Amino acid sequence: MKALRWLDPPEGPAIALLDQTRLPDEEVTLVCRDVPSLVAAIRSLAVRGAPLLGIAGGYGVALAAALGTDVQAAAEEVIRARPTAVNLGWGARRVLSAYAEGRDPLAEAHAIAAEEDEASGRMGEYGLTLVPDGARVLTHCNTGALAAGGHGTAFALVVAAHRAGRLKHLWVDETRPLLQGARLTAYEARRHGIPYAVLPDNAAGSLFAAGEVDLVVVGADRIARDHSVANKIGTYPLAVLAHHHGVPFVVVAPTSTFDPDARTGGDIPIERRDPAEVTFIGGRRVVPEESPAYNPAFDVTPGHLVTAIVTEQGVITRANGGNLGLLGGTASDN
Ligand code: MRU
Repeated sequence: MKALRWLDPPEGPAIALLDQTRLPDEEVTLVCRDVPSLVAAIRSLAVRGAPLLGIAGGYGVALAAALGTDVQAAAEEVIRARPTAVNLGWGARRVLSAYAEGRDPLAEAHAIAAEEDEASGRMGEYGLTLVPDGARVLTHCNTGALAAGGHGTAFALVVAAHRAGRLKHLWVDETRPLLQGARLTAYEARRHGIPYAVLPDNAAGSLFAAGEVDLVVVGADRIARDHSVANKIGTYPLAVLAHHHGVPFVVVAPTSTFDPDARTGGDIPIERRDPAEVTFIGGRRVVPEESPAYNPAFDVTPGHLVTAIVTEQGVITRANGGNLGLLGGTASDN
């Protein structure tokens, strides 16, 4: 399963995506032969997940260069596709700089993809120190190979725990409204033979109350200097629940997800999506006609609710906050 592949000529130049809007029912490849089709794929969530968006952004700029189109304009178009995952702009700008400096943009895009693959493995390894034996782990959204390099971010840790014989059970939040947990994380867990069950998002509280959760692991779309974490809508209530029940809340994200320009969570732009994603289920309207809806795609969890942030460079906790020097901030900024 490869969520994104670069196609060289004669099939390309193009970017081949596993269309995530069609999963889990169908495994359909979507081939983007120009930047507007890639931007449409990003907007529709055919390709998604912060680190994978970084890889897609990089390849998008490389595609513009390969086609001989305006590379600067293409980079700007890609960056505008979605606002919250900082990786998208990070990947696009990195390849744009390579191009501007006369280096090979495609080699730079390949380098980003290779680095994110390697980062995934390291995050799985470092994060394992935080997983107790027989852990019952709750996760939200999709953070696996469909969302990042390698086995993903938080899901890479789940895979590492499973392989180490430490994972008893994975609780998968369905993740309304677009069901990334139910459709995509369950799909990936099944392929790995991980014991899991999907729950409606509003059942998480009862799971904590029953003492059925030992650890929460989630990914991130952007991390501010005060260690506030933007992630899929519904992450913040899980952090509050975890705090209330004394359960560790662990964020797993590569350093490409840290935004040194965001001082606090308030500096993180939150994507608002089409209300129809809430008011329609499976193509059928479930609210009275013309009902408005609130549909933010992400929320922000303040740093004081985060037990640890696992990166490919090591684990940031309150005890060593900021010592990795990733943001120049410290946990005491929280
Ligand atoms: O809207 P999406 O599906 O792109 O949101 C993805 C998430 O929120 C993930 O948790 C996040 O990108 C981190 S993991 C790879």
